[in-house]
Amino acid sequence: MSIIFRCPPELLLRAATRRASVIKCKPVFSRTKTHQAAVCKELGKPLLITQVPSVQDLTGSQVRIAVRSCGINFADVLLAAGLYQEKPPLPFIPGTEVSGEVVEVGKSVRKFSKGDRVLGLSQAMQGYAQECVLEEMDLWRLPDSMSFEEGAALPVSYGTAWLGLTRKSNTKKGETVLVTAAAGSVGLATMDLATNVFGAKVIGAAGGPDKCSLVMKRGAAHAVDYKAESIREKVKEFTGGRGANVIFDAVGGDAFKECLRCIAWEGRLVIIGFAGGSIPKIPANILLVKNISAIGLYWGDFRNKELETWKASINEVMSYFEKGQIKPHIGRTFPLHQVNEAFKYIQQRKSTGCKSSHLNLLFGCFTQEQIS
Ligand SMILES: NC(=O)c1ccc[n+]([C@@H]2O[C@H](COP(=O)([O-])OP(=O)(O)OC[C@H]3O[C@@H](n4cnc5c(N)ncnc54)[C@H](OP(=O)(O)O)[C@@H]3O)[C@@H](O)[C@H]2O)c1
Repeated sequence: MSIIFRCPPELLLRAATRRASVIKCKPVFSRTKTHQAAVCKELGKPLLITQVPSVQDLTGSQVRIAVRSCGINFADVLLAAGLYQEKPPLPFIPGTEVSGEVVEVGKSVRKFSKGDRVLGLSQAMQGYAQECVLEEMDLWRLPDSMSFEEGAALPVSYGTAWLGLTRKSNTKKGETVLVTAAAGSVGLATMDLATNVFGAKVIGAAGGPDKCSLVMKRGAAHAVDYKAESIREKVKEFTGGRGANVIFDAVGGDAFKECLRCIAWEGRLVIIGFAGGSIPKIPANILLVKNISAIGLYWGDFRNKELETWKASINEVMSYFEKGQIKPHIGRTFPLHQVNEAFKYIQQRKSTGCKSSHLNLLFGCFTQEQIS
């Protein structure tokens, strides 16, 4: 905090003394407000917990949020390591999906007022902080039944899953959907929507027996432990040799290759990500022979290219939540000052489910399902 003492310039002061016998010089105090945040100052290095200057004056369409919860995504880890497809200029504060309370609104903001509980998607990140400033159009009112943690855990994972299941793969009732990294946040969101909203049957593929039992608990019809079993053989076994109609692959590498070999005729393979670190090549002959479609999905880019679809993805999942059809998976939490431990947790493949951070006095946490 810096305090600046201002008094009238000397010349003015002298002129004024000529006109008045008594001059009352009132000091004006101006204070630069700050708040706590986790800052990436150098790629590949731990985030720094520090005070950063708060935005002083809002533009007409901006809303200031006291952040209570912020999602921690796999992409944040990649961003801070310099391995993501987008490379923001340094320094930056990661964190795109936040929930919290409105503390101030710009002059033209109509939909929100002070005290509203909201979830928002920050286009300039800045979510790992006690405060962030978002555009009105990037905010949604939190339903009373939705906690801050659920709000911050929902948009990226469920938005991606919704778009993948609707527009990208046109998943139909009764179809079989294979999901890799099924115990991860996009994986569990996809399972939740596929089974509880779209009436599909899900095979969840995950690394290890604990993750597989979580996947079964969350509604999968079958689970494959791809650390010990062949995805291809198990999927063929579960589907009577037909294969999966729709595949969501977030892992890449060998898992992707296996997926290509257990997809049904006219199957749709939705490419979600490469958590395993290796970007696979697709032999075009396999697509041709089995009438398969391989489809790329980058949910966040819909905000820039097709705003209405992007908004619909969140509106839809919010309404499923309100109707009690879906429930994001929340577990362990990390406070802001442990954000680097949270990153390690994700990198070591220990995480499951949606992740969000919550802020009370410090910052918040990111949440993990406790595997039991
Ligand atoms: N396309 C989009 O619009 C979009 C949107 C959101 C996320 N994504 C991407 O989708 C992927 C999954 O995201 P998420 O949020 O579900 O992540 P997450 O919850 O952190 O799950 C990632 C999972 O990937 C699996 N994995 C396999 N190999 C790994 C490795 N070498 N290192 C770390 N994890 C590995 C692990 O599960 P197992 O141990 O079970 O293998 C891990 O738990 C990421 O690549 C992310 O960038 C894409």
